[in-house]
Amino acid sequence: MAFINEHYLKLSAGYLFPEIARRVNAYREANPIDAENIIHCGVGDVTEAIPAVAAKAIKHAADELSSPDTFRGYPPATGYDFIRRAIAENEFRSQGIEISDDEIFFSDGSKGDCGHILEILGQGNVIAVTDPVYPVYVDTNVMIGNTGHALDEGGYEGIITLPGTEENGFISNPPDQHADIAYLCFPNNPTGSMINHDQLKAWVDWALEHDALILYDTAYVEFIRDDTLPRSIYEIPGAEKCAIEFHSFSKNAGFTGIRAGFTVFPKSITASTRDGRRIQLHDLWSRRWSTRSNGVSWPVHRAVESLYTDEGKAQIKSLVDHYMGNARLLLEACTGMGMTVFGGENAPYVWVKCPVGADSWQMFDRILQEIQVVITPGAGFGRSGEGYFRISAFNSRENVVEVSRRMQSLIPA
Ligand code: MLT
Repeated sequence: MAFINEHYLKLSAGYLFPEIARRVNAYREANPIDAENIIHCGVGDVTEAIPAVAAKAIKHAADELSSPDTFRGYPPATGYDFIRRAIAENEFRSQGIEISDDEIFFSDGSKGDCGHILEILGQGNVIAVTDPVYPVYVDTNVMIGNTGHALDEGGYEGIITLPGTEENGFISNPPDQHADIAYLCFPNNPTGSMINHDQLKAWVDWALEHDALILYDTAYVEFIRDDTLPRSIYEIPGAEKCAIEFHSFSKNAGFTGIRAGFTVFPKSITASTRDGRRIQLHDLWSRRWSTRSNGVSWPVHRAVESLYTDEGKAQIKSLVDHYMGNARLLLEACTGMGMTVFGGENAPYVWVKCPVGADSWQMFDRILQEIQVVITPGAGFGRSGEGYFRISAFNSRENVVEVSRRMQSLIPA
């Protein structure tokens, strides 16, 4: 008999986005005609074509694989040297941040990396998450046994949740207690808030004081419009001793279907064995990849390489400008209706306060039924997400204009 990992049984419900899909399908079956008009602003999946430079690079890579002279077999598990160099140079060294090529681990995306990281960290670490939060951070800790059971009021036993509220601008402060690992995501999913240098420094100082590790997810970094805000946690002195940074090409380059990302593991980061020896996490992560994976495909290497050319950078900028133009329209539409709105300025998500008396799943149902738009209920991101909903700006301009128009006709609660 095979036994299961019983921690999976603690997971409170389906993952948020499949649950949304289930409700949308139920609506579709009950209202097949109205459902023809559904516009999806729920999951943050991109809609626009990948940069032309990347498409060309993928085709070229296919040609290279078609000829014995330029054929490539297994890639290095953590990425070819040329891609690690391009990333380290363009993302960090050109900004005055000293990250070496071999501190970059090229991968098939940051969602996977955010979960895989727990494999090299011991069980029983005390975890802190901001709330509302990208559910992957919480659920992967439940799956590995770092939490107790689901609580009736939301969340799990044993996990520290740090509320992000209107009062703190949806930027949670570091906990006033010890934790071993803290997850941060900025620009923030789901609230669209963005941390400043002083706030991020407070987190780094807390981590250094508590010998804690910060897992810093920057999947939306290209959407930061305000140049005074930090693009990397390594802009904060000391972060190279306590922070691991996750990056994605999904949202800036439209690679949600291609899959590419990377993780930055400074060699100066160590964590402890139970008997007190300090071990370099970089080496464990390297070992993990060489054992578990054969890395990222050749066409994806070539595609990401192309993003760092002048042409690639210009095409990424135009994609990001497109989605941020959408965010502005959505912000204006909701504000124009008298709703209280956050985010959308340095992030492709608009975070809207529910009208008095409505909770976030009720707003989900109303918006779906009355105007056939799919949004994401804040409660799906944690207890502090209740009372809000998220509108994703990842869409065509035409759809966003239509959503903005339909929002005006939403019957007030
Ligand atoms: C979201 O909608 O929160 C994201 O698209 C989910 C993801 O990136 O995995």
